[in-house]
Amino acid sequence: MSKDLVVVTGASGYIGSHIVANLLSKGRNVRATVRDMSDPERIQHLNNLPIEKDGSLEIVEMDLLNEESVNIAISGCEDVIHTAAAVIIKSKKPQKEIVDPSVIGTRNVLNAIEKNGKVINFIHTSSTAAIRPAKWENGTILTSETFAEDATLDKNPYGLAKYSAEMLVRKWHKNIKSGPRMITIHPCMVFGPAMSKRHLHGSLSILMMLVKRKLPVLLPMQISIVDVRDIAEIHVRALSSGKDGGRYLAVGGEMMWGDIAKLLKKNYPERKWATKVLPYHLALLVAALHPKVTIGWAKTHLKNKLYWDAGPASKDFQINWKDPKTTILETIPNIIENEWD
Ligand SMILES: NC(=O)c1ccc[n+]([C@@H]2O[C@H](COP(=O)([O-])OP(=O)(O)OC[C@H]3O[C@@H](n4cnc5c(N)ncnc54)[C@H](OP(=O)(O)O)[C@@H]3O)[C@@H](O)[C@H]2O)c1
Repeated sequence: MSKDLVVVTGASGYIGSHIVANLLSKGRNVRATVRDMSDPERIQHLNNLPIEKDGSLEIVEMDLLNEESVNIAISGCEDVIHTAAAVIIKSKKPQKEIVDPSVIGTRNVLNAIEKNGKVINFIHTSSTAAIRPAKWENGTILTSETFAEDATLDKNPYGLAKYSAEMLVRKWHKNIKSGPRMITIHPCMVFGPAMSKRHLHGSLSILMMLVKRKLPVLLPMQISIVDVRDIAEIHVRALSSGKDGGRYLAVGGEMMWGDIAKLLKKNYPERKWATKVLPYHLALLVAALHPKVTIGWAKTHLKNKLYWDAGPASKDFQINWKDPKTTILETIPNIIENEWD
């Protein structure tokens, strides 16, 4: 692998941290961007990472909304892996807190790449949220041909942020003369070991609800799961393989929420787990009464099964996705060891 400098934006984050770990294990020179270098929960785990011979780690402060800091972070890099985004589903100020960091932030990254003129590979972390339409039928298989064009600020600000940022990247890539290779990666719900307590607040909060027994009963819902280590690996492989302009779904498999709880109960019988799943009609009623859930959302998501075609990523990046059960069981030990439960 080349020895050139690779920048990872959002390196304090769950996925970004695993990408940095993966690159360092391969002896790459890595520039990791974080928002606050004085916070040990954002950088301590990065500083403790093993570094393979000839590799190096430089941590810099960068805010996506501060153009100058983005320019400085990108300058001198040949590879850019852009994971940073506001990973928030709901906010009272969705434009400012969810959409702007993704869209204005990604525009700043693209401008910085143009200014730098040295970038060869640009890998953008998108999401299944940029693909999934608001409504789908039970048993649907979505491919990378679908776009979340119907996402709105009101109903799905995170989907809007991910879709809009990706569209910006694609339009830019189409129009730029002699720009870098570009690939977008679209993970579903990411599970797998957390490297910092902060990592428990995003996608892992779903598992943490079970670990902390925050819910007395579960909803009859399917969750598509992919391992964070597989996600890191395909981001790194995308620097040297995959199609220019490729749009790759990254999904390891599906499990019902109740089956996840049963798996945990079987493997951790000494702990208490809520495993009871609400019957469908009762779950619909609960959703209808819930202030943050619409009946339309509940009718689409409860009980129904949605599948994703991650075949192109398996083929082009030569990856065998980890089984979701393995991923879940390997997520729990360091939560318990660190007493994050
Ligand atoms: N986890 C999933 O299930 C999942 C699924 C699909 C796609 N994704 C995508 O994967 C990427 C990483 O997500 P994650 O799960 O690793 O979430 P995360 O742990 O919240 O990481 C997000 C990273 O972005 C940084 N960030 C947020 N706003 C920023 C800003 N204004 N300027 C600079 N950095 C900023 C965060 O910095 P701080 O540490 O300072 O907050 C953090 O490093 C995101 O693009 C997300 O949309 C995640």
